Amino acid sequence: MISVSIEPEFEAWRLKARELLAVGVSPDQINWRDWSGGEEGLFSFEEEKKGVPDSGGGSQVKVKADFIHLARAVSCHSDPERWPVLYRLLWRMTLGGSSRLLEDPTDGDVIRCKEMAKSVRRDCHKMKALVRFRKVGKDERNAREKFIAWFEPEHFIEEFNASFFVERFAGMDWSIFTPRRSLHWDGKALLLGEGIEKEDVPSEDSSDDLWKTYYRKIFDAARLELKAMSGEKPKKYRKNLPETRPSRYLYPLQEKNLSDLAVREHSVSRYGGSSLKTLREKAGDCRVCPLWNRATRTVFGVGKSDADFMIVGEQPGDEEDVSGRPFVGPAGQLLKRALAAAGLDPEDLYLTNAVKHFKWKAAPRGKKRIYEKVTKGERLACRPGLLAELAEVKPRVVVTLGNSAAHSLVDGEFQVLRDRGEVKGDFPGSEKVRVLASIHPSYLLRMQGDAAKELGFMELVSDLKTAKNWLETANGED
Ligand code: URA
Repeated sequence: MISVSIEPEFEAWRLKARELLAVGVSPDQINWRDWSGGEEGLFSFEEEKKGVPDSGGGSQVKVKADFIHLARAVSCHSDPERWPVLYRLLWRMTLGGSSRLLEDPTDGDVIRCKEMAKSVRRDCHKMKALVRFRKVGKDERNAREKFIAWFEPEHFIEEFNASFFVERFAGMDWSIFTPRRSLHWDGKALLLGEGIEKEDVPSEDSSDDLWKTYYRKIFDAARLELKAMSGEKPKKYRKNLPETRPSRYLYPLQEKNLSDLAVREHSVSRYGGSSLKTLREKAGDCRVCPLWNRATRTVFGVGKSDADFMIVGEQPGDEEDVSGRPFVGPAGQLLKRALAAAGLDPEDLYLTNAVKHFKWKAAPRGKKRIYEKVTKGERLACRPGLLAELAEVKPRVVVTLGNSAAHSLVDGEFQVLRDRGEVKGDFPGSEKVRVLASIHPSYLLRMQGDAAKELGFMELVSDLKTAKNWLETANGED
């Protein structure tokens, strides 16, 4: 039996697995262990393999990208069995001659690995959704605002998930602490340090002051150097992490700062005349209101870039936030049914939301995220982007869904349940557009009673048909 101790990370496993395979060591000859420091173990394989008969491995082992993709995720699982299972799979796919093993949905090792990968990905989503940064004051080394967050993952996902945070929060200085690791981004490089004790961390709902005190404690002068914090030279993170994207809006502004004027200036300087691709990037970088901070993804518009028919919803929901695409959840399904009933082909449309980030709060108990209505300030912050999107797509008709979406385009006392129908507004760059405000499919989902739901659905379909008729008339007049 060979005892193989590796640093618990994918690259370490890959290197060792390749060596073992090259000399034909079979899975049942290996005792895999996570190396947790010390001299012992890490290099013992060199010594021990001398005693292993060469059973004819090959140094030119090739595996498909699918396997690497799967193995990367599995390697983050907290189950110590992940290494032997992965090696067994690798062995069977290569020396065992079952190169298409991954396609076998009934194979025990395949099932196990896929389950582990799924659990890791779920944990990653959770981390993306639940990490909440606190602004804790200026970093004394560079006088930049510093944000910190605490998260306790189920698996070893910190590095695996790091590129998301680097990409998303490229313009901020932040640290994320977990019990096993700490990640520190300073706008240029990601440094890894050791984890911290859970007991030392303020609870999620502690006041910002407590977080600031905590920050000062962990970053006091004596420990400013990460080197000292981690007790070892911190690793510079892989070079292939996404580049820092320049962002003019580095930090979330407070709601009270979202004056119309600021938003208008924001509009002119930041959005005017941009392509949809650029607008999408700008929405991803936007820090004008605080919603970006807790959203998993920016949900930008999708569909035909020069569509004549555009639909504007309110804000992404839970499923949209995770997938990054609008109207993929229950409200989206209902909308699809309504579109079909109105004779509209989704392929011909452009679908977007007035606000591009999901606003939510945690359920009182449990882990569900509950939708929260956006404020006027948040709506205003997104409005320049929406108007630019409108000016770029240049639809002939727009249907807004729900009050909030209508208010993104029209001012005043508009109340969708009372005033459903055509609305007039000022749409720079898209002057010829006709806008119809209708009810939101989510509203229908919340309605009590099948008859009321059915009636509401018919009203939505009827509005979509009206807009379709407008379009056909306008096209006929050309
Ligand atoms: N509701 C919306 O308004 N937009 C979505 O994308 C999903 C639900």
